[in-house]
Amino acid sequence: MNSQTLREARKYEEAQEKLIAKETRPKFHLTPRVGWMNDPNGLCYYEGKYHMFYQYHPYDAHWGPMHWGHAVSTDLLHWEFLPAALAPDEFYDKDGVFSGSAITLEDGRHLLMYTGVMKRTVENGQMKEFQTQCVAVGDGIDYEKYENNPVINADLIPEGSSKTDFRDPKIWKKKDGTYRVLVANRAADGSGQLLLFKSNDCFKWEFEKVFASNKGRYGLMWECPDFFELDGKGVLLTSPQDMLPEGFEFHNGNGNICIIGGYDDATDSFTEEKVQAVDYGIDYYAMQTVEMVDGRRVMIGWMQNWDTAGAHDAREPWFGQMALPREISIKDGRLRQWPIKELEDMRSGKVEYKDFEISATTDLKDRDSESIDGAISLEGINGRCLDIELEVRPKDVDAMFDKFVISIAADEKYHTDIVLRPKENIAKIDRKFSGSRRAIVHQRRAHIPWNKDSIKLRIVMDRYSMEVFFEDGLYVMTASLPTDVSCDGIFFNTNEDAILNIVKYDL
Ligand code: FRU
Repeated sequence: MNSQTLREARKYEEAQEKLIAKETRPKFHLTPRVGWMNDPNGLCYYEGKYHMFYQYHPYDAHWGPMHWGHAVSTDLLHWEFLPAALAPDEFYDKDGVFSGSAITLEDGRHLLMYTGVMKRTVENGQMKEFQTQCVAVGDGIDYEKYENNPVINADLIPEGSSKTDFRDPKIWKKKDGTYRVLVANRAADGSGQLLLFKSNDCFKWEFEKVFASNKGRYGLMWECPDFFELDGKGVLLTSPQDMLPEGFEFHNGNGNICIIGGYDDATDSFTEEKVQAVDYGIDYYAMQTVEMVDGRRVMIGWMQNWDTAGAHDAREPWFGQMALPREISIKDGRLRQWPIKELEDMRSGKVEYKDFEISATTDLKDRDSESIDGAISLEGINGRCLDIELEVRPKDVDAMFDKFVISIAADEKYHTDIVLRPKENIAKIDRKFSGSRRAIVHQRRAHIPWNKDSIKLRIVMDRYSMEVFFEDGLYVMTASLPTDVSCDGIFFNTNEDAILNIVKYDL
């Protein structure tokens, strides 16, 4: 039986969705049915469809008491909303139904595992937050919270570990039929650790081990872990809070990392080998993966960041969007990300230029990105829902450009720039002139050891975002864009003559 709180949320979202014109949302990036969205939750395949749940506050466009929103898709690109799946309606989750994951039980029922948040006054009169792991079982639409929730509470965690920061369970089934769940926690040293629990039935859990420890290296608390085997490696994804930048690898604030290492299934042991950022742009957090029916591992992140997510008008009908589903693999010891192949089925309106010469704007090198003066546009290359493959090289091999700029979502007043600086192995994205009226993070640089004979990019745009894949997907930079969709120009500029190959598709 659904609670009053859930019924009200469902009634509200159904009515409100009708007031939001489809054209005001991205085409193929999921947005909340109404109100606020953060992390993807419970990304899974169940009964013929991919399900995505999400952190959800339907009642306004800012974070609030967390529910789980729900949508389904057959290709992870075209989504259909279903009624909200979970609401904060039990004593143990009255202050929020936080992030988690999903799995299909032996008997075919669908199980959601999430973090219940409860605030309680403790002995000294202070209000304290407690986080526990809970489950709900259902049929893909309606879910019933388990009568003996929480299934993992603080009694099961190691001495000295935080009871306040204990969240975001990621569940999987092992080949031997038993279950594991990885839960983010804060160790006695104040930094992140991931705890592994085991179960035979998903309801009765016991603590197995500390699976990974941050020890203050990459940010503090680690949120939203995911773990899986990929191309013979163990891959740990997590989103650290309070990161310190290290060269170009990480950046300040809440970020995303991928640790690639060895994994021994018999002992559930992970040994770290390499670490890297997952996305080098501005807006990417809390990514989660799903194994598709044909075995592809696909990753979806929240296309926002916590430091800027509060800087918008609460009256906006929706806020927050998911990033593009990306097929992931391990290549040259790095995480390779590539737009899900089903995106290619959406392509139309092909426009192609081969060996197109762009002549130099010689003063470009000394300019910041304040204007697109001297930039050129190409007939038929414009739009805001686009898939662009681009390759650029210097006209004269001995005169490599210092700077090649691609300005998107552009007109005389607005533009967002992708700046290539091959001599320095740097790419920069800059949305300062995107129409943003807030002092949010606008720029980011990444170190990309390019193949300089020909610099390759793929850019995917969907009205309010850009995702730029460099070097065949070994480096990715993502940002959301506030620019009005009427700004659909694309311009190119270079400080030395360059040759451009470009294929553009509308999406
Ligand atoms: C990450 C996060 C999670 C938590 C959720 C709450 O973005 O802080 O750790 O479960 O958001 O909405």
